[in-house]
Amino acid sequence: MRAGWKQPLHCAALCFASYVVFGVAAVGSAAAETGASPVIGDERAVRQHLDLSDLATMSVEAINAHGRMLFDAKFTTLDGAGRPAATQAEVPVKRRPGRVPALFRTSGPDSNACNGCHNQPASGGAGEFVANVFTSVGVSDAEFDTLEAQFSNERGTPHLHGSGLVELLAREMTAELRALRRDAVDQARASGQSVTVPLVAKGVDFGSLTVQPDGFVNVEQIEGIDHDLIVRPFSQKGVFTSLRQFSINAMNTHHGMQSDERWGMQWTHSADFDEDGHKQELLSGDLTAVVLFQAALPTPVQTMPEHPVLQDAVKEGADLFDQALCSQCHVKALPLKSLTFVEPGPYNAAGNLRASDRSDAVFSFQLSSAGLEQNEKGEWMVPVFSDFKRHVIADAEKSHFGNERLSQRFIPNDQFLTPRLWGVGSTAPYGHRGDVSTLREVIGHHGGQAKEARLAFEKLSDLEQRKIIQYLQSLTLTLATEIQQ
Ligand code: HEC
Ligand code: HEC
Repeated sequence: MRAGWKQPLHCAALCFASYVVFGVAAVGSAAAETGASPVIGDERAVRQHLDLSDLATMSVEAINAHGRMLFDAKFTTLDGAGRPAATQAEVPVKRRPGRVPALFRTSGPDSNACNGCHNQPASGGAGEFVANVFTSVGVSDAEFDTLEAQFSNERGTPHLHGSGLVELLAREMTAELRALRRDAVDQARASGQSVTVPLVAKGVDFGSLTVQPDGFVNVEQIEGIDHDLIVRPFSQKGVFTSLRQFSINAMNTHHGMQSDERWGMQWTHSADFDEDGHKQELLSGDLTAVVLFQAALPTPVQTMPEHPVLQDAVKEGADLFDQALCSQCHVKALPLKSLTFVEPGPYNAAGNLRASDRSDAVFSFQLSSAGLEQNEKGEWMVPVFSDFKRHVIADAEKSHFGNERLSQRFIPNDQFLTPRLWGVGSTAPYGHRGDVSTLREVIGHHGGQAKEARLAFEKLSDLEQRKIIQYLQSLTLTLATEIQQ
């Protein structure tokens, strides 16, 4: 285990012991418990850092506790919070010199802790409107000078429960789609004919692609995901691949905490790219820990109301949800082959740890199967209520969801990832901007490719519509947690 910056390395065995003994509750004060010489008046939020080599000697619970500590930490300038000479951009970008406020709501750093926003019903949960984020790319000066909406998109804070399962589903889907492309390339080369292959993964239709005999791949018919066939399940736009990638971005954007694996020497030739006087603000072991904490958050559950009348309504609502075509996009459950979470994942781009980067890079653990049923093939049915696909969700008649003006990663402004409805009963307000207070209203805003479903919903009687809402209200977050080594 690596002590914080400026503090010598001294406590590998003891730190480990303290984690095992004190577990999750004690980690906030782990340094004090380990017997490491205390620092009087220490105002760092993070008193220990983990390098990858530390992980092999630690229990999953201890790594999880370190991840939670980082997620809950209110970072201070002594931890390296703030980025006076760098922007919120995902790739290292220098900030225009001059006076900038330490915290800045529209371009960040905008908060002190991850759980400043992700806190309902508890750390790792969702946030209400006041916790909204102004998402922008951080490469244009205007972003720092104006509140004009064309320079940032305002987004509400989603919950992170079940995110390990989400990332694993996306990885398996990507692998399936890429295998289809590989087979099509082989077939086209071997036959000398162009080959068109439907892109279906876990029953979800992502369009098709056509390969010419010379290996050229025509990507025009791919639907709802990027042309590289990576299913990106994170952010409401569906543009981020892994919890690791998101966490590295978030640590920099929200807190000015820069991860060495992206802002360190190997990429920027600088040990302190943001010029705040702090090196090694986050190590790769820290990142693996914060990923593990999020991945292992409990799976949302269905909570039945107590009154039998409402229970019946939930049951009928489940069928009406299908009848109103909601499950075309909000697919009730997707099958997952394996619960083994291997970190880092296989589709990380440079600047996010990859398995090949270091011999000690890979760490794996089992996600809990609590609350998951198995299908006849032994696959885990994950009740996400999403197809992991982007859809056009606004049109001239229903324009509410087309309210952004900044295009993110070249994706049209009227397209969003189908949100996962597991937990939706606990996460008001709704919509990507968190500006809709009821489920009925949010359903009423469905346009574009969801027009047919909205019309089907509107055709139902008021009581039937209420049953669908009662059903959605039964999809809740839970605080129960269970991690298997
Ligand atoms: C100021 C509020 C705020 C803070 C602080 C914050 N987040 Fe978020 N988080 C959001 C919002 C808003 C989104 C949705 C972004 C989008 O859709 O583009 C989000 C999305 C995410 C997602 C993707 C979830 C999904 O289902 O798509 C992850 C993972 C995440 N945050 C992790 C973190 C971590 C780790 C930290 C701390 C380093 C953090 N967040 C700090 C507001 C916040
Ligand atoms: C064509 C795909 C599609 C269909 C069909 C569809 N939805 Fe959606 N749904 C979406 C997308 C995309 C969003 C995200 C909208 C936004 O925030 O920009 C969404 C958002 C939602 C939300 C808000 C979730 C949140 O956390 O804020 C709810 C609730 C919802 N849909 C329920 C339904 C119901 C009920 C039906 C059937 C009447 C339905 N949807 C049909 C794609 C679809």
